[in-house]
Amino acid sequence: MNKTLNIGLFGYGCVGQGFYEAVNESPNLNAKIKTIVVKTKGKTRDLPVNYFSYKASDILEDAEIDIVVELIDDAAAAYNIVKTALNSRKQVVSANKKMIAHHLDELIQISNKKHTSFLYEASVCASIPIIRTLEDYFKSDQILGFQGICNGTTNYILSRTNLGLNYDKALKEAQELGYAESDPTLDVDGFDAKYKLIILLKHAFGVSPQPDVVFNCGIRHILPEHVEFARQSNCKLKLFSFAQNIDDKVVGFVAPFLVNTQHANFNVENEFNAVHIDAKFAHQQLYLGKGAGGDPTASAVLSDVSALKSQYAYSYKKSKSLNLSFTNNFYLKIYLASQNIKVLDQIPFQKTEQVFNSEKYNYKIGWVNFNTLIGINFNNNLGLFFAVYSGKYRLNIEE
Ligand SMILES: NC(=O)c1ccc[n+]([C@@H]2O[C@H](COP(=O)([O-])OP(=O)(O)OC[C@H]3O[C@@H](n4cnc5c(N)ncnc54)[C@H](OP(=O)(O)O)[C@@H]3O)[C@@H](O)[C@H]2O)c1
Repeated sequence: MNKTLNIGLFGYGCVGQGFYEAVNESPNLNAKIKTIVVKTKGKTRDLPVNYFSYKASDILEDAEIDIVVELIDDAAAAYNIVKTALNSRKQVVSANKKMIAHHLDELIQISNKKHTSFLYEASVCASIPIIRTLEDYFKSDQILGFQGICNGTTNYILSRTNLGLNYDKALKEAQELGYAESDPTLDVDGFDAKYKLIILLKHAFGVSPQPDVVFNCGIRHILPEHVEFARQSNCKLKLFSFAQNIDDKVVGFVAPFLVNTQHANFNVENEFNAVHIDAKFAHQQLYLGKGAGGDPTASAVLSDVSALKSQYAYSYKKSKSLNLSFTNNFYLKIYLASQNIKVLDQIPFQKTEQVFNSEKYNYKIGWVNFNTLIGINFNNNLGLFFAVYSGKYRLNIEE
């Protein structure tokens, strides 16, 4: 296909500007951005005004536009744009993990019905080509599980707390460096990591749980005592987007993990993202790279546009060939800590392996049913902190 591709771009912020530059510096792509739709009138832009419009229809109803690239920061508006574009038989690229995590199955259905393609590599770990890897390289090999560091903000904060900074100072530093928003909730409470997990679950296992059934616990209540416990156990605390196939059931959640020195993610620090995959025949692999920022995210969008030029579409083979179901009904071993021993005692353990009590800090290590944990709002519970203790998970505690 030698024809110049016409792209309609929604959003000209951090990623949109990076993408504009990437297209201009990729002559081999033979593509041009025809129109850019943004939101705020009167904002100073570094391109001539005739590029910009404030009406979605200027892209969505332009028959000359082949590909719609959606890079806006409003999930509800992004959903309408992507849905309308697919219904109009346009090919679509998006980076909006929140929107995709909520509407993926519906958007896949529309793109199938309209024989068009919807790609979203940038939505998970930006420059790491993890979706395409799961889709294509792992089309036949069976994924046993993955542990993803999918949020650079929390990984940066944990790198700093692991070096002795307290949480508030580490967060402030992350905000000053531009890694964290002034309201950091989506990152530090694990929502962003959860949206990415849901997208990976679809491509690794073919399951698509809705965000409200997937548990996310972040790092907001990490204390120096927890960091010290990890250090003494030869571990670091890392926030994982975690998934595992246990006897043909898929478990998936976001939580802090105690990660030991042998784990490939142990040395993944600062704003970096990494996904560690365990597969039946490939065994273990680590994919590492920059998971955010204008250029790394634009690189993934550019790659999708380039793939669309070759008529690429996700096959969703795991959804079609596997018959796995998502469950929260399993057992795992956790470290649960609180300054108040009574709070710890309220949480039922199936097996308790270790208890530590002191005046200011108490913890238990043992096996709990995950359903017990998901009933507790750890993100809003100042008095409690938990981390996953070991890499063993069971559907039945009697095993
Ligand atoms: N930043 C990253 O590192 C990163 C990494 C991975 C994925 N993403 C995803 O990429 C997307 C864009 O992020 P960003 O960081 O580039 O955001 P951003 O810097 O805040 O820019 C957002 C852009 O969206 C435009 N916009 C907002 N609502 C709109 C609407 N209803 N119609 C048209 N335009 C609208 C804004 O217009 P105005 O310019 O007029 O305000 C602005 O140009 C988000 O989904 C984000 O989750 C970002």
